Amino acid sequence: MNDILYQSRFLKACRREKTDVTPVWLMRQAGRYMKSYRALRAKHSFLEMCRTPELAARVTVDAVDQLGVDAAILFSDILLILQAFGRELRYESEVGPVVTPALTEARLVGRLPRISVDESLGFVFEAVRLARAGLPPSLPLIGFAGAPFTLAAYLIEGGKSHQFVKTRSFMYQHPAEWDRLMGKLSDATSDYLRGQIDAGVQAVQVFDSWVGCLSPADYRNSVLPYTERIVASVRSRVPVIYFGTQTAALLPWMKKTGCDVMGLDWRVDLKEEWDRLGRTAVMGNLDPAVLLASRADIKRNAEAILRSVAGRPGHIFNLGHGVLPTTPPDHVKYLVDVVHRFSGARSRLS
Ligand code: CP3
Repeated sequence: MNDILYQSRFLKACRREKTDVTPVWLMRQAGRYMKSYRALRAKHSFLEMCRTPELAARVTVDAVDQLGVDAAILFSDILLILQAFGRELRYESEVGPVVTPALTEARLVGRLPRISVDESLGFVFEAVRLARAGLPPSLPLIGFAGAPFTLAAYLIEGGKSHQFVKTRSFMYQHPAEWDRLMGKLSDATSDYLRGQIDAGVQAVQVFDSWVGCLSPADYRNSVLPYTERIVASVRSRVPVIYFGTQTAALLPWMKKTGCDVMGLDWRVDLKEEWDRLGRTAVMGNLDPAVLLASRADIKRNAEAILRSVAGRPGHIFNLGHGVLPTTPPDHVKYLVDVVHRFSGARSRLS
């Protein structure tokens, strides 16, 4: 990686170094709330956009141009890898993602193929190359993948779920097949992240969006060993952000993956959690619904988070989950400006 990128605010914060202002980017910064995105979506399906490198790269770069954020995230989706495992993937407007056939029987784990990410996900690597070439040379690009638990949950449930009962009962009933499934998903995910790094991303985020449905003991025994393996396979090359929701009880265990940055959702107090976690960088954690309120509300809530951590090195500002589709676009830009302005003023004083 060249020095301009290495010295960027975002990567410095990943390393817990002091920065001039607090870096900020937003999960789902490219999405339906954005006019330019909806214009492209009117002509292409979501999957078509993900699978066409020129379109994915364009959406990635557009978001950064419009928002002035400190990092780009590749426009893609965590579920694309399930197509490589022979699943059909659809996105239905009222329902969300649908994965067919669902993995309903433990004996079917053995039939999941060993995948070649170059053959099945080469379009993602090409999107990384194009996005990297289209971004300002000093702006880091974040690659990502779904964590094995969250991918297994989509495979087993066949789509979204509130309680993940099928996934949890599979894990209890079929421990050997669970291990085999998690092993296959982890190997593929490590390959996938390494491919993105080879293609030009400067950091990776592992999304474990639904892991918060597990008890600490089950996380530790049935998930941590796999996520740890993935983090270990890429960490020497780029910083790793690990994010999940409803993870308050799991965070100390999630930290044991060896990740560089802990992503926090809005249900926890960022400062208190950071104090508890100790040596790590943190990312978060404004409630995305705040962006639906007034500018005064956005300013007050964002500044409260910044004030609470008092410029401690290693904070990357983000939402506690993705930008909601009904968010006014000017509010997103406003948030980015508030974070830069407030944290810049405080760092000039100290
Ligand atoms: O953050 C970014 O800007 C990068 C792009 C990105 C998308 N999905 C684009 C997307 C990223 C990082 C993801 C990750 C992802 N995908 C996660 C983990 C993060 C999280 O939200 O917890 C999950 C669970 C998925 C699965 C997924 N994909 C869901 C649940 C949905 C439907 C939800 C919805 O808003 O309809 C998607 C579709 C999706 N992924 C869209 C976008 C922009 C909306 C597609 C559209 O245009 O209709």
